[in-house]
Amino acid sequence: MSIQVSQNEIFHAFSESLDLIDRRIYNHHNDVAYIALKLASALDLSQKDIKEITIASLIHDIGVFTADDRVKLTDYAFEDITNHGEIGYQLLMSLTGFDKIALLVRYHHDDYPNLIEKPEYNLYSNLIFLADRIAVLIDKSEFILNQVDQIKYRITSDQDVKYMGEYVNAFLSLSRQEEFWLNLTTDRHKEIIMTVLKPDAFIRDINALFDISKLFILAIDFRSSYTASHSIGVSKVARAIGQLLGYDHDNLDILEISGYFHDIGKLALSKELLDKKSILSKNEMLQIKSHSFYTMEILSKIKGFEEIKSIASSHHEKLNGKGYPFKRSNLTEKEMILCIADIFSALTEERPYRSHTNIAFAKEILLSEGNDGKLDLNLIQIVIDHMEQLSQINHHYQALAAKQYSDLQEAISKGA
Ligand SMILES: [Fe+2]
Ligand SMILES: [Fe+2]
Ligand SMILES: [Fe+2]
Repeated sequence: MSIQVSQNEIFHAFSESLDLIDRRIYNHHNDVAYIALKLASALDLSQKDIKEITIASLIHDIGVFTADDRVKLTDYAFEDITNHGEIGYQLLMSLTGFDKIALLVRYHHDDYPNLIEKPEYNLYSNLIFLADRIAVLIDKSEFILNQVDQIKYRITSDQDVKYMGEYVNAFLSLSRQEEFWLNLTTDRHKEIIMTVLKPDAFIRDINALFDISKLFILAIDFRSSYTASHSIGVSKVARAIGQLLGYDHDNLDILEISGYFHDIGKLALSKELLDKKSILSKNEMLQIKSHSFYTMEILSKIKGFEEIKSIASSHHEKLNGKGYPFKRSNLTEKEMILCIADIFSALTEERPYRSHTNIAFAKEILLSEGNDGKLDLNLIQIVIDHMEQLSQINHHYQALAAKQYSDLQEAISKGA
C-alpha cells in the first residue's frame, strides 16, 4: 500500500478519542501527556525517554472502558477497583515493539514504595502517576493560577508516600512558572506534545499499519462484548468483495483498514449504551447514530488517512440520502462496499438480542436495501452470488478475533 502515516499522529488521534466518552474528562490524556513531558524535561531525561513517557501518557487509561469508571478516576484519592493499568498493559502487549510503553501503563497508579517491589518496574510510571494526579487536581472551571498553592500542598503531602521525592521536587520548581500552567488553558499544550513527538516514526509498511490497527480494534471491541469480533469481520468481508471486483492490492488494503476503523467513533459512546440489550430510547438511538460522525472526527486527525476516513465514516450512509449522519447520496464504490460489508457482517454474526440469523434472511435484507434505492443493486447482486464464501470468511476471522479476545481476558484475570 502506498501509504505514509505518522505513528504518533495515530496515537494522538486515538488518545483524544479516549476522552470523548465524557465531557468531564475532556482532554485528560493530553493534559497528562503535557505535564509528564514537562516533568521529564525538567529532570533532564533523554529525548527517547521523554518520547516514550509522552506516548504512554497519551494512552495511559486505555484500559478503562466505562464513562463512570473514567469519571471516578478524577477523584484524587480514588481506589482502583477496575485494575485498568493491568488491562492497558495486556492490550498494549498485543502490539509488537510496545513492551516498554506497556510497562509504563501497567504501573501508572502504583505508589512509589510499592512500585519498586514490582518485578519489572520502570520508575517513569511514577512520573506518569504524578502527572495524572496533578491533572485531576486542576479544576477547569476556575482560574488555574489560583489553584497552584492548593495543588502543591496536596502533592507534597504525598511526597515519598505516593511519588518519588525527586519527581515532586521537579514539579515544585516547574510550578513556579506561570507558563507551565497557562499552557494547559489553551491548545498550546497540544502543540508542545506534537513538537516533542517529532521527528516521528513513519509507518510505510502495510503490515505495521495492520498491527497498530489491532490495538484500536481491541480497544473498541473490548468495550462491548457483542462487537468483540465485528470490526475484523467487516474489514475481511470488504476486502473479499473488493477481490471479487478485481481491485488491486492498494485498494484492497484501503478497504481492509477502513473496515478496521469504521466503528472507532464508538469510543465516544458508553459501554452501558453499547451493551444495552433492551429496546433503545429515542435519545439513546440518536447517541448510537452519532458514532460514525466521531469516526470521521477521529480519523481526520491523521494525515494520509483522507480516503480511509471517508470510507470508514460513511458506513451508515444510503444512496437515497437517508442514511446518517452526513446524509450523503454520492457514495463511491469503496464506500458502498463497506456499507454492504457492515450490514452483511452484522446480519450473519451473533448478537446479544438474537441468537442466530441465517443467510436467507441476510439475502432478503440486502435485496430490499438495493430495491429501495439505498445501496447499489449491482454490488448487492455480486455479494448475494457469493454469499456462502463471504459468510465463511466472516466466520473464520470472527472466530479468530473471539479467541484473541478470550485469551486477552484470561491474561488480564491472571495478571490481576
Ligand atoms: Fe489511570
Ligand atoms: Fe488518567
Ligand atoms: Fe457502525
